[in-house]
This record gives sequence, structure tokens and C-alpha cells, in this order.
Amino acid sequence: ASKSTDKMVEAHELLKKFYHHLLVNTKEGQPALDYLLNRGFTKETIDAFEIGYSLDSWDFISKFLEKRGFDLSLMEEAGLLVKKNNSDNEFFDRFRNRIMFPIMDHHGNTIAFSGRVLGDEKPKYLNSPETKIFNKSKLLYNFHRARLHIRKNQQVVLFEGFADVISSTRAGVEQAIATMGTSLTEEQAKIIRRNVSEVIICYDSDSAGIEATMRASKILKAAGCNIKVAMVPDGMDPDDYIKKFGEEKFKHDVIGASVPIMTFKMTYYRRGKNLHNEGERLQYIDSVLTELSRIENAVEKEIYLKQLSSEFDLSMDVLKEQTFQKEKQIS
Ligand code: GTP
Ligand code: MN
Ligand code: MN
Ligand code: MN
Ligand code: MN
Repeated sequence: ASKSTDKMVEAHELLKKFYHHLLVNTKEGQPALDYLLNRGFTKETIDAFEIGYSLDSWDFISKFLEKRGFDLSLMEEAGLLVKKNNSDNEFFDRFRNRIMFPIMDHHGNTIAFSGRVLGDEKPKYLNSPETKIFNKSKLLYNFHRARLHIRKNQQVVLFEGFADVISSTRAGVEQAIATMGTSLTEEQAKIIRRNVSEVIICYDSDSAGIEATMRASKILKAAGCNIKVAMVPDGMDPDDYIKKFGEEKFKHDVIGASVPIMTFKMTYYRRGKNLHNEGERLQYIDSVLTELSRIENAVEKEIYLKQLSSEFDLSMDVLKEQTFQKEKQIS
């Protein structure tokens, strides 16, 4: 690493500790701390994830960094400061009056932040921009802490949000990671696959989360992962669920009840369809057969074909023939 990137990491490490101090020890941080405690965060998780608070100020951090000898242009390059209009050497603080989630790279170096508003303002989360030390498309939140748990459990649980990862960890499901609020990339899927084969996708159960589950499963499958899906009910997200129903129920009734991706997809294709209507029923069967034609494992394929055969009273021969036709179209 070059000297300038070392300095960027050094500033992030220093600010992480300072933001944390502001959150847990100061009057200014009290509303943010109350907000977190009200949401169900505990002192332990706030410490473990080194969560912090950035002051409601335009220049506190630039002065703080300047006093400690950091080059402010470099700090702007690191994403901590923003250039003032029409000026090359005047800056203001990027993160103001936000709850600060430090982002660590896979070695544990602090390389970015995500800041959440305390209320309903927009944007809800403000992330550091892409920099020399922060590559969003390769980074998985909490991967550094989760790695040992992933190895031990031979499994990883993939979430949408930081709060989901943190609550899941509190519930004892510590093999927990998330993307940076963007959809899963091929690079991230490859990193996951290098460490583990089984991935449980546990996204929000709103329609955005359901669509994102379909997309992520495709990318994970291409990377060679074995995919399961855990869904919380009724448009909630995992963090909401844990707050409402508790840690044990999350562990047993959500993570423990995860289903193979094919089962999730069958439910997905059923959504909003009336299977008593012939046209919609044919559409559903066709979607499932298309999925099945992509499954290589013959036993797995047979199991789902049998389900279709008995549910819709169709012969296995016909279903197999139709799947075979689809396989030919693909290859
Ligand atoms: P909470 O409201 O704090 O529980 O957040 P959440 O994690 O449930 O947020 P949501 O489901 O709306 O979004 C999932 C993830 O997308 C978040 O954890 C963020 O990483 C990201 N995200 C959400 N809102 C924004 C935003 O306004 N800007 C950016 N850049 N990312 C966002
Ligand atoms: Mn502490
Ligand atoms: Mn969401
Ligand atoms: Mn959410
Ligand atoms: Mn949430």
C-alpha cells in the first residue's frame, strides 16, 4: 500500500473511535444513542460494531483532521470531506448529524462509513463514495467479523441492510453479511464462494426484496453456490422481525425454516396467479419447468417434477419431455 492510502485508513480508524466516543459518552450523542436503544440495539452490539455519531457541524471533522496534520485534499479524496463550491482548498464535513456505521474491509481496516439519519430525512443512508481504499462492488459488510462463523457453520446468511446484520448477530446468527445497499455483484458472489458453498438469502420481504432475492440467486448460482432462502413475513425486514418476535423465533422460524431456492421460486411464480384458471396454471407450470430445465442434479429435478405431476395430475413422461425440450433450447 502506498503512503497516501495508509493515511486514508489511519484517518478512518481515528474517526471511527472518535464517532464512537461521541455516541456513547457525550451529551451531543445522547439523542442518537436513545434512537439506537429504542430500536433495540444494545450497548454490546453498539460496541461490537463500533457504531458512532457525527456532530451536527459543517467543519468539526475538517478542523479535527487538520489539527492532527492530515492533508485535507487527501481527506477529500478519502470521502470524509467535500469540496466547497468554486474552491480547491476549502472543504466541509460529509457526515453531519448521522449515526455512523464504520465499514471495514475484509482484513479489518476501516475504509468507509455509512451514516444514517435519526429521523425520516433523505437520503436515509449516506455512504462514502468510491475511493482508492473503498470498492463497493467488492465489499461485503461485516465479512471480517463473520468469517470465522461462516467457516464454523459452513454457511453464510446474506442480508440487505446493516441493521439486519447487527440484529442477526445479536440473535446468535453471526455468519451474517450484507451488500452496501446495492445489488449483489459477481465479484461479491465469487468472494462468498471462495469461503463457503451454502448461502441463505434473507432479504426484506417487500416486493423489492423478493425481486432482489431472484436476482441475487442467479448470480450466486453462477458462482457455484448452493442457495436457500429465509423469508420474514408480511413486508417486514429481518431487523423488524427480531424486534417484534424475538431472537429465538428468528433463529428457529426464519433461519431454521429456510427453504431451497427452487421452493422459493415456485412460491414466487405462484404469486398473484389463480391456478384454477387454465391459462394462468399453464403459465405457472411453464415457468417452473423452465427453472427445472436449468437444474443439473437429476435427483433434485425428479423431486420437483414429481411435485408438479401430483399437484396438477400430469404424467411424468409429459413433464420430462417438456423439460427436455427446454434444455435443448438453452444449450
Ligand atoms: P433501517 O431503516 O435503518 O432499518 O434501514 P434498512 O437497512 O432496513 O434499509 P432499507 O431496507 O430501506 O435498505 C436496505 C439497505 O439499502 C440499507 O441498509 C442501506 O445499505 C441501503 N440504503 C437504504 N436507503 C439508502 C439511501 O437512501 N441511500 C443509500 N446510498 N443507500 C441506502
Ligand atoms: Mn465502546
Ligand atoms: Mn428494503
Ligand atoms: Mn430493510
Ligand atoms: Mn430495517
